Order: sequence, then structure tokens, then C-alpha cells
Amino acid sequence: MTMAIVVHGGAGTIPAEREEIVQAGCKEAAAIGWRILKDGGSALDAVEAAAQVLEDNPNYNAGTGSGLATDGSIQMDAGLMEGHTLRVGAVAAVELIKNPISLARLVLESPHVLLVAKGALQFALERGMSLCRYEDLLTERQYKNWCATQNAHLVNELRYSLCELATCPKRADKQYGIAEVVQEQLLAIYPAQEVQGEKHGTVGAVAVDTLGTLAAATSTGGIVDKHPGRVGDSPLVGCGFYADENAAISCTGHGEDFVRLLLAKRAADFVAYGATAHAAAESSIAMLSTRTSGEGGLIIVDRLGNVGFTWNTAHMPYAYMTQDMQEPITGL
Ligand code: GLY
Repeated sequence: MTMAIVVHGGAGTIPAEREEIVQAGCKEAAAIGWRILKDGGSALDAVEAAAQVLEDNPNYNAGTGSGLATDGSIQMDAGLMEGHTLRVGAVAAVELIKNPISLARLVLESPHVLLVAKGALQFALERGMSLCRYEDLLTERQYKNWCATQNAHLVNELRYSLCELATCPKRADKQYGIAEVVQEQLLAIYPAQEVQGEKHGTVGAVAVDTLGTLAAATSTGGIVDKHPGRVGDSPLVGCGFYADENAAISCTGHGEDFVRLLLAKRAADFVAYGATAHAAAESSIAMLSTRTSGEGGLIIVDRLGNVGFTWNTAHMPYAYMTQDMQEPITGL
């Protein structure tokens, strides 16, 4: 059987100075997953290991390096699935877990499918997984991103309050349009702040092993400026990841839109109905654009080892390795 692995480092806009480093991280993850496949390991082991490498790399928004929620907490989501058994494991809104994908793997090995928040932590402890410190997950890059979003909110609130102040008093001022003039001037002095920064940044891996078994894994710190408790597509089976006997898929992007469309499952269905891996990826992301105006990308591998990947954002770092190659190819 033909083996293959594809990994991604998240759809979004990658600043020029980070282009090389995020591709190198994907290459390393693909190489580690490939080694497992080559040694006769399962696709499930390969995608877990590859996702773990990306979680440990502080340059991605997953595990160490995850983005912060508005309250400053670090809440992560992850999920993985094995195609031929349809076994699924996922965790959502978990804190203090160094490798959420490995906690998801423990869930997959249990009778559960999805565990969240405190209950997931309790499960981690019951299964002998130790918790890490908040500082182990926090990176300077994400802390700065969070500060920038907090500042933007502060300026916008201030702007709103000043306008209220300017328009509320004296009927006479209103009569002569003075309040509106003051308001206009204030709005010009304090332009509305957009929340900046890399918006997405999920990681993921898909693989097919020597037995033709498929598996998919996805892990994320979520979107920038997320509400505490917000859960996106990454830990939702059929949305941010999926695997069956035909294909394995991992998604990245603005999760709510992937959830609306059950996009990972749709991509698997395209393959089941005869599309190539590449065409299935293209059709799925085209649907994301046209039906929801959503942003993101996905990677896919089919049971014959054909790979596909596409995105509608500026970039999506990826790497893949198939049997006829000497080393992983990367791009973004
Ligand atoms: N795709 C990651 C998220 O929306 O959380």
C-alpha cells in the first residue's frame, strides 16, 4: 500500500520574516510522522506525533504558542480520528495541557468522543497525564498579540464613551448641529481600531499507512480575540477533522464557517463520490467561499496516498511526503 502524510501550520497571513520558520516546522512534523509510517506505525500514531511536534513548536497557534482568549486564558481544542474504525477523540476549551492532541488520543481510546473544559482536565489527571503551567504555553508573540487586541478594544470603548458624552447634553447644541460636529471631530481624532494580528493558525496532519488506514488530527488555540469558552471547528468531528475509509481531512480557518458547512465531512464525501484529493480540497474551499464567505484551508489524503491541499487566505504553510519522495516538500 502507498503511504503518505500531509501537515499544515494554519491558514492566514504569514509575515515575510516568519515564512521560512513556519515551513521548516511543517517539514519537521511531516518527517517525524513519515518515520513512524515507514517503521510500520499506524496512520493514527503518525498524525498524533506530527500534530504534537507542531504543538510543541512555539511558532504555531496550538499547544505552546496558542493564542489567548479575551480574559487572558489559554483554552485549546484538538481532535483526531481513525478512518477504518471511525474511532474519534476530541477535547475542547482545555487549559494547562501541553499537548491537547495527546489528551484527545486518550479520549479516542476511551468510550467517549468529546470532553470539554474542567471535565477534560479531570479525565487527563485520571489517565495519568500531568498538567503544565500557564507559562509553559504562553509565548511573547501571543502575549503581544493579546495586548494589541486589548488596546484596540480600549480605544474603541473610549471612542464610544466620548461620542456619547458629546451628543447627550443640551438641546440647543443639538438644534444647531454642534453635537454632531464635536462627534465627527472626535471620531476623526480617534479612528476605530481593528483587531490586528494573525487571525487563525491551527495545525493539523493527515496520513495513510501501509495497511491503507487513514487518520486525521487537528489542534488549535482558537481564533484571535475569542470569547472564553468559545469552541471552533477543530475539536468537532466532521467540521475541523474527519477520516473514513476513503479520505482523511484536517481543516484550518475561521471555525464557525467550517462548522456551518461540516466541511471536513463534505470533503470526505467528495472523495467518496469519485473526486481526486486535490479536486475535493478545491471544491470544499470553493464552497466555504461562496456559501459563507469563510476564510481557511484544508489538507487531505486519500486511501491511495494521493494528497490535496488548498486555502483561500494569503498563506497556509504545509508539508507533505509520499512514497516516491526523498524528503518532505513544503510551501505556503
Ligand atoms: N479553526 C480554528 C478555530 O476556529 O478555532
